[in-house]
Amino acid sequence: MEKFVVEGKQRLTGRVKISGAKNAALPILAGALLTGGTVRLTEVPELTDIYTMLEVLKALGAKYTFSEGEVVLHTPEITSAEAPYEQVRKMRASFLVMGPLLARTGRARISLPGGCAIGARPIDLHLKGFEALGAKIEMGHGYIEATAPKLKGNTVYLDFPSVGATENIMMAAVLAEGQTIIENAAEEPEIVDLANFLNNMGAKIKGAGTKVIRITGVKDLDGVNHTVIPDRIEAGTFMIGAVATHGEVIVENVITDHLTPLIAKLIEAGAEVIEDEDQNALLVRSKGKLKPLDIKTLPYPGFPTDLQAQMMALLATVPGISVVTETVFENRFMHVTELNRMGAKIRIEGRSAFIEGVESLTGARVKATDLRAGAALVIAGLVADGVTEVGHIFHIDRGYERFEEKLRGLGAKIYRVGD
Ligand code: UD1
Repeated sequence: MEKFVVEGKQRLTGRVKISGAKNAALPILAGALLTGGTVRLTEVPELTDIYTMLEVLKALGAKYTFSEGEVVLHTPEITSAEAPYEQVRKMRASFLVMGPLLARTGRARISLPGGCAIGARPIDLHLKGFEALGAKIEMGHGYIEATAPKLKGNTVYLDFPSVGATENIMMAAVLAEGQTIIENAAEEPEIVDLANFLNNMGAKIKGAGTKVIRITGVKDLDGVNHTVIPDRIEAGTFMIGAVATHGEVIVENVITDHLTPLIAKLIEAGAEVIEDEDQNALLVRSKGKLKPLDIKTLPYPGFPTDLQAQMMALLATVPGISVVTETVFENRFMHVTELNRMGAKIRIEGRSAFIEGVESLTGARVKATDLRAGAALVIAGLVADGVTEVGHIFHIDRGYERFEEKLRGLGAKIYRVGD
């Protein structure tokens, strides 16, 4: 198994170009099943999660090419309405094909999802939405089967603004009869990107990016060209890396508005963030002593749970006590044990982590427990004294395109080595 070897006490300096957003590209790829026309996507990041989604789509009848960030895909016909365990277990987001399959063929049979081990991550809200649109749901043998000869629009209230459920229900509703209203919908920018993609195919979606999304069903959808939005979590990871290492980095290809909660917290900690609107870029730097922070993860536009682990790596060496409260997932502190092995002083109490800033972290052998935890350990490795070895980096490869190359471009000494 491959690992990263990271030399510590490195300042990140220079420019880095952010890739297209994984979490926008995944639902958009699933949404491409809604048409028999050709879908051309650019700025698709080359990540294992994207390859997994493409494999799932292929098994359902899609034909595609993928090179240099461009996917050209068409699905003249759905040849199977079943997404098998082998693929779905690799990635929870495979479940996003359920809405499009139901909409296009009236049937979907999907293995129960796998993915990062962060909390129970049920799918009850997705299913509640499909049922409201008239689907019959059956479960057995590790599979969920939904059938609906014709979906009918309805009002769906989400008990929690789930990103995946909002996307899946939205995709099911675009070809349903009549109007669907999703209340307490997730407002993430990736949902807006998906809605723009679907609307350009001929869908009628209003209100994406707010708490209420209204979808008027249409008969069919056409092919489309679409460019995926920049990855705010990748951008945020490099910004946190810049501040943690007291460096100076220009992150290019960003939408500043998507990063508002992070920028606010970095400035509160004492870093500088300067926007270059003409270049879609942000300059991030930190010189002096940083101040501790209180952070609570929340659905967008709150502080993203996907940047919680990286922030903790930063706060581990900030003098004083920081408090990080995770409200989106139940079990997303697995990186804490690994950070503590590197000399951090972090104590967990319920949903909060209390971080007592230490003078310095020390290089150690650690293990990525999920995607963002992996990125956090790399940041900790850059800050630490000595050498850090980060194992299980297949998690990192799921969501960061050419991570070590980009970091090396910023002066980091990080190498991928086989065991
Ligand atoms: C998406 C992102 C992930 C991010 C998360 C929260 C993708 C591919 N992944 O994941 O990176 O961390 O949003 O911003 O876009 N829940 C239920 N029932 C459901 C669905 C969700 O209880 O039916 C709960 C989950 O257990 C979790 C919370 O809602 O505690 C948030 O999940 P959700 O917003 O659905 O996240 P994902 O779409 O899985």
